[in-house]
Amino acid sequence: MTQNTPVKTTLPELSITLKCLFSSYLLVMGMGALLATAQILMTHGLADGKAGLSFDDIVYSYQGDPKHSKIETKLNGSMRDKASSADKLAIIKWVRHGAPKQQWDENIKDIFYKNCISCHSVIPGLPNFTRYDNVKKVAQSESGASFTMLTRVSHIHIFSISFIFLFNGIIFSYAIGIKEWQKALLVSLPFLFLSVDVFSWWLTKIHADFAWVTIISGVGYYLCWVITWLISMYQMWVLPYKKHKLNQLSQISTES
Ligand code: HEC
Repeated sequence: MTQNTPVKTTLPELSITLKCLFSSYLLVMGMGALLATAQILMTHGLADGKAGLSFDDIVYSYQGDPKHSKIETKLNGSMRDKASSADKLAIIKWVRHGAPKQQWDENIKDIFYKNCISCHSVIPGLPNFTRYDNVKKVAQSESGASFTMLTRVSHIHIFSISFIFLFNGIIFSYAIGIKEWQKALLVSLPFLFLSVDVFSWWLTKIHADFAWVTIISGVGYYLCWVITWLISMYQMWVLPYKKHKLNQLSQISTES
């Protein structure tokens, strides 16, 4: 360390005004985080019809729930009387398995030819079910996130959450007793996780397994945020009253 190093303020030494400002911010953001968690549990958490956030919830939210395809809705609704129960069941099972082309060629195609194409190939405006592509389209879920919605949510998410991380990181940067590289890691990781998180929503639309990336990155930035939040609060309000511990921690800072 040279003499030119600027004097560094630390969290325990901040003025009461700054401590109040920083803490108010952290508390309100903490409240926001709790509300956000509640919202995630209520919207995404129930996507698979069961309470609690699960892998399926994430997949259904972004990719759509195979049980809510247009075709299944119609077969239980206005197209109810267009096929026998056995045929309807066969179609629904096939749809729930992702409507694979192979089974279409084997036997599903015949079911459609028998029951559906008398209208769905001749009436203008109705999807033509003689072609697999058209069936596949209505076999996909309607409830998944659309690309328009994803684009909107993605950029709002990135812009707003970056600011939360930025201020949170600035406050935490004044912490003492933590190695510089560890601090640097803890303030930058959330941004990395955030980017990966948003990117994974798009990937989950393409393949369900990417929901794991959404889960891991979500937990990742949440953890970073909780750790820095707790340390900041502790160092502002508890540490100044623990002289012994304070001296110990100041030591570590100067060593690094
Ligand atoms: C008698 C004619 C007729 C037959 C047979 C018929 N449909 Fe339909 N279908 C319609 C009409 C008319 C509509 C539009 C009105 C509606 O959505 O209820 C429609 C709409 C649909 C839709 C919604 C299409 C969209 O893009 O909105 C689906 C899915 C569907 N039918 C599936 C089937 C399936 C599967 C079968 C065979 C088991 C079938 N239909 C047999 C006349 C028929």
